[in-house]
Amino acid sequence: MAYRFVHLSDPQLIPAGHLNYDIDPQARLNSCVDRLLKEVPDAQACFITGDLTHWGEKEAYQVLKKELDRLPYPAYCMMGNHDHRQNFLDIFHQHPHQGDRFIQFSIQTQMADLVCLDTLDDRKRSGILCDKRLAWIEDLLKSSDKPVCLFMHHPPFETGLASMDRDNLLNAEAFWSVIKPYKERVRHLFFGHLHRCVSGNWRGISFSCPSSLVHQTPFNFDNPKPDYVSPEPPVYNLVDMFADRVVVHAHNFLHDSPAIQSRTCQRYQKPES
Ligand SMILES: [Fe+2]
Ligand SMILES: [Fe+2]
Repeated sequence: MAYRFVHLSDPQLIPAGHLNYDIDPQARLNSCVDRLLKEVPDAQACFITGDLTHWGEKEAYQVLKKELDRLPYPAYCMMGNHDHRQNFLDIFHQHPHQGDRFIQFSIQTQMADLVCLDTLDDRKRSGILCDKRLAWIEDLLKSSDKPVCLFMHHPPFETGLASMDRDNLLNAEAFWSVIKPYKERVRHLFFGHLHRCVSGNWRGISFSCPSSLVHQTPFNFDNPKPDYVSPEPPVYNLVDMFADRVVVHAHNFLHDSPAIQSRTCQRYQKPES
């Protein structure tokens, strides 16, 4: 039996009734929740890897809460560079977090501990894991021998997308030195921030990042400051975690082209030998 969950990222909410990059972020999240209710009612949780809002206003977190409250399972949120911890906690009173302010927490499941990290640097777009946060991660990894999955906003390595690579996790090597002794237990790394579907393997750890729920990063590897965003469709990732594998399905949930009818469409038949 798999542990099934949804991974969303970068919904970048703003107060209701406004547009950002010509997109209504609330309408996007509303459509996404509609589809989740219909398509994956058996999911057990939703993880949102940061940039919950675009400018961190309380009104934007209220919009987020209103939509997430429609889900029949818990939604776990992480901080991105566009977020504001206190404004988030003022709206999400019950959300797990560390007593001393960071929104880091671990969710225990039958398959693995799901460890959610807070990479927000209050003053920069890039991410940081300060000594306090790194010590928390180390203590957690030391305290158990269960498999773990890691969730965070900022990728801890360059992906080649020049416009995003300048804002990675700044102290990625310090993070690596903490997790390296436990890397055999790290089953997968989930992150956001890139506003594109990207997956692969980092130093032996598989990773995945879904597209944003709103605007996307252009498929352009060289321009560090493009003056446009991509209108490519949003994605939610559906994750099934089994004892021996983690399967990530990327779903373009707003895709609405008519289905190709396999019985009546034009098909190329196998040549007779
Ligand atoms: Fe971000
Ligand atoms: Fe973002």
